[in-house]
Amino acid sequence: MSSDLTLLQLLDSRVRDALAAVGAADAPAIVVPAARPEFGDYQANGVMAAAKARKMNPRELAQQVVDKLDLAGIASKLEIAGPGFINITLDPTFLASRLQAAVGREDLAVPHPPAQRVVIDYSSPNLAKEMHVGHLRSTIIGDALARVLRYLGHTVIAQNHIGDWGTQFGMLTAFLVEVEGDASGEMALNDLETFYRRAKARMDEDPAFADMARQYVVKLQGGDPAINVLWRRFLDISMQHCEAVYATLGVGLTRADVRGESAYNEALPGIVADLKAKGLAVESEGARVVFLEEFKNKDGEPQAYIVQKQDGGYLYATTDLAAVRYRVDELKADRALYVVDARQGLHFQQLFTLSRKAGYASDKVSLEHVGFGVMMGEDGKPFKTRSGDTVKLAELLEEAEERAFALVSDKNPDLPELQRREIAQAVGIGAVKYADLSKNRNSDYVFNWDTMLAFEGNTAPYLQYAYTRIAGVFRKVDAWDAGAPIVLAEPAEKALALALTQFADALASVSREAAPHWLCAYLYGLATQFMRFYEACPVLKSEGEVRASRLQLCRLTADTMRTGLGLLGIQVLDAM
Ligand code: ARG
Repeated sequence: MSSDLTLLQLLDSRVRDALAAVGAADAPAIVVPAARPEFGDYQANGVMAAAKARKMNPRELAQQVVDKLDLAGIASKLEIAGPGFINITLDPTFLASRLQAAVGREDLAVPHPPAQRVVIDYSSPNLAKEMHVGHLRSTIIGDALARVLRYLGHTVIAQNHIGDWGTQFGMLTAFLVEVEGDASGEMALNDLETFYRRAKARMDEDPAFADMARQYVVKLQGGDPAINVLWRRFLDISMQHCEAVYATLGVGLTRADVRGESAYNEALPGIVADLKAKGLAVESEGARVVFLEEFKNKDGEPQAYIVQKQDGGYLYATTDLAAVRYRVDELKADRALYVVDARQGLHFQQLFTLSRKAGYASDKVSLEHVGFGVMMGEDGKPFKTRSGDTVKLAELLEEAEERAFALVSDKNPDLPELQRREIAQAVGIGAVKYADLSKNRNSDYVFNWDTMLAFEGNTAPYLQYAYTRIAGVFRKVDAWDAGAPIVLAEPAEKALALALTQFADALASVSREAAPHWLCAYLYGLATQFMRFYEACPVLKSEGEVRASRLQLCRLTADTMRTGLGLLGIQVLDAM
């Protein structure tokens, strides 16, 4: 059995072989899960286009393909439907053998694609301020992608491209000196948001302070050691704030993953010189600018991509060009993902286009902007506090745990407090993450506590609860035979088996589209199939081989749920 392929890849390759055998090697197979049970389990939809191109009757071509289609031992029935769809019904024995190969295995026998080196730029907050809700999406989408890609055998190199450079750091270090002697100094740094606001106020009210802040910028950029020490201290404190958030979220970013904007400073003059030498950058109104034909403004003229300002300063764009070079040349990326707000879309399209033109990334390297929409409040506007301030991420997560604690205490008042706290942590943080990850990342979404914490519907609490129910089965059995044969007799057993077999394809979709919501949709579907199975097919009350086989299905479901939620960075519990 080709266990190096996922189910979908296996079917796809067989259909393509058959198409090739009838002289349509160029035609796509287009195998998709069947939309309705009467269409079988999968449908191959590529024949119609192939027939059209050949001016053939599609049903006739479909018949030729079916005659050549070798799905012996895989499908129990092939049927031509409608204008030339091929309906494929899988053989339960085949599904059982796939599951038998997976049960009890740590990796659930998920096949590994050819391994790549994947750089993932995620979280990447600006350190001048504290992390706010705007950083949640990048941090958890990036973390889920990193986990899934590693699980599939890729080498993932996380890059936390922090904003640690720029003029604000003059103001912040100057203020650091000012509050230093002051008893409120350390306290001021406990709250970076307030620290920033106070520093800003000093800028506005005191010209002497503003002057000093400007001098600090110049000194910092000139490499003055004393200011450098202050700057590093500030960054260190700000990083500690981020790390507290990462710990709460269970996100594994460490200092080793940090490569901030400042790390590219020395490379910037070389980038601009190189772009000039290649005739890509030109002088325009004293600045250095690249005009890319691919991007036109309203008047139909090429848009300016500025790489050096009039005053000689460099920009976000210049730093990102240096980062592309670093990721390709030093990190040897085959694929580079940028998990950044969709509103930066144009910047990344320009960056990628220019990087190719300048030869910083060959066509062999895939550069992808993994954009995402805005998190909105109930009022349909970007999520804010009641008073209109940005919501600090740390406070949002605290509230999630508090709300979950209230819910759990309500459901299970008799559990010891410590255990309720543990459950609340997994449920609260899991709910916030899942509500985000389960949406197509490109769209905006409304943040709603009640929906995300509901125990019904496509939510983390529902899936976590489903997991505890499956895990609960094993508390009631003394022995589970890991070698027991899996037999799929009932429709609900087969449906569950099919869902279990599709795990690898769900992960392949996540990887291909850099879209974690495919895994969420999969897990929700799996939980639904399990519940149907559990109602239709008694497990504990059955006997002998039937019982042993059903326990195998339960075990594999539990393992797949735990693994899948783990890949989303969501914890499961044995009881809740
Ligand atoms: N610090 C930036 C921001 O908060 C995000 C950086 C994303 N990564 C990058 N290579 N540009 O908007």
